[in-house]
Amino acid sequence: MNNRRDEEISVKPLLACLRGARFERPPVWLMRQAGRYLPEYRAIRSSVGGFLELCYTPDLATEVTLQPVRRFGMDAAILFSDILVLPHALGVEVRFLEGEGPKLAPVRTAEAVALLEPGAVLDRLAPVFETVRRVAQALPPATALIGFAGAPWTVAAYMIEGGGSREFPLARRLARQAPATMTALVETLTTATIDYLGAQAAAGAEVLQLFDSWAGALPPTERARWCLEPAERIVRELRARHPEVPVILFPRGVGAGYPAFARLGAAGLALDTTVPVDWATRELGDPALCLQGNLDPIALLGPIEAMLGEARRIVAAMKGRAHIFNLGHGVLPETPVEAVAALVADLKTSAT
Ligand code: CP3
Repeated sequence: MNNRRDEEISVKPLLACLRGARFERPPVWLMRQAGRYLPEYRAIRSSVGGFLELCYTPDLATEVTLQPVRRFGMDAAILFSDILVLPHALGVEVRFLEGEGPKLAPVRTAEAVALLEPGAVLDRLAPVFETVRRVAQALPPATALIGFAGAPWTVAAYMIEGGGSREFPLARRLARQAPATMTALVETLTTATIDYLGAQAAAGAEVLQLFDSWAGALPPTERARWCLEPAERIVRELRARHPEVPVILFPRGVGAGYPAFARLGAAGLALDTTVPVDWATRELGDPALCLQGNLDPIALLGPIEAMLGEARRIVAAMKGRAHIFNLGHGVLPETPVEAVAALVADLKTSAT
């Protein structure tokens, strides 16, 4: 542990929290805190041709990363990018169509997996690392910088399906019927994710979050192989390469499967909206494990007083635990800016 690192932890509440520190008022950031609900994001978004262009233009991606921090004063910035830049860097065609969500050229066969280009990933994602460097320079001293990637199963699910889906039937079917192809795809993604997150840490990311947004689409028997094992390997390798950078896991939708994710060596575990907070504080053993979450993003659509009441209940139930306040999933595009402002202000000032 070097001195510079110790100093940073002491001035950044979010980093201290991930080391097990408890605060009277939890540090706060929100998943998808940058994005379409912000008029200043929409202005920049409409100035570029495509969403990926925004992700790969360090000037603009830096600005968009900083916008919510500037406006609301969150305790962390999350790199502005997307989980689907990784398949894009592996050579897969990825497009973001207005109102339709992402579309990918499907990867469903052993031949298609063999054509992926893991050796090209770090070069192709160089603009993302440049954004990380710029944001790290520009942030206020008490604000932490979070890098992220999608977990291998979630990214594989988008690749196999060719886009978003409610239940990812093609991906779940491929995992059962062509396990060798699925293994090859998940291994390629796991290795690439380790390199990708490692390079974000090297560029200045202080925390790394792994989004397994569709972990809940798999039954527990399948989840061990496609979610838990890759997450464990990613956490282990990142701890070896960057022991000072904590990892937060977000296995959305796994319910009673959360305790298994609590045992993988990550510093933090993000709770989705379905997890009762008092259950989590009881069942997610190690009190040094930092819990993150888990206000329902719908609550931000109003009424504001009810939303603040729920936020305060979450804070109260987490008392005595290292806790980072967040939502249970991302901010919705229709969220009023005033609701986010009221939430962050209340968390910073309300009596606890
Ligand atoms: O502020 C932040 O959180 C940082 C940026 C960020 C984005 N996507 C920007 C984005 C992050 C962390 C993500 C993660 C992401 N992307 C996830 C995991 C979290 C989750 O929501 O479950 C997933 C599954 C994706 C894939 C993805 N990207 C989808 C399904 C979509 C379309 C839906 C939508 O919201 O439009 C995207 C596009 C996307 N990613 C946008 C933004 C701001 C909107 C695109 C636009 O502005 O045109």
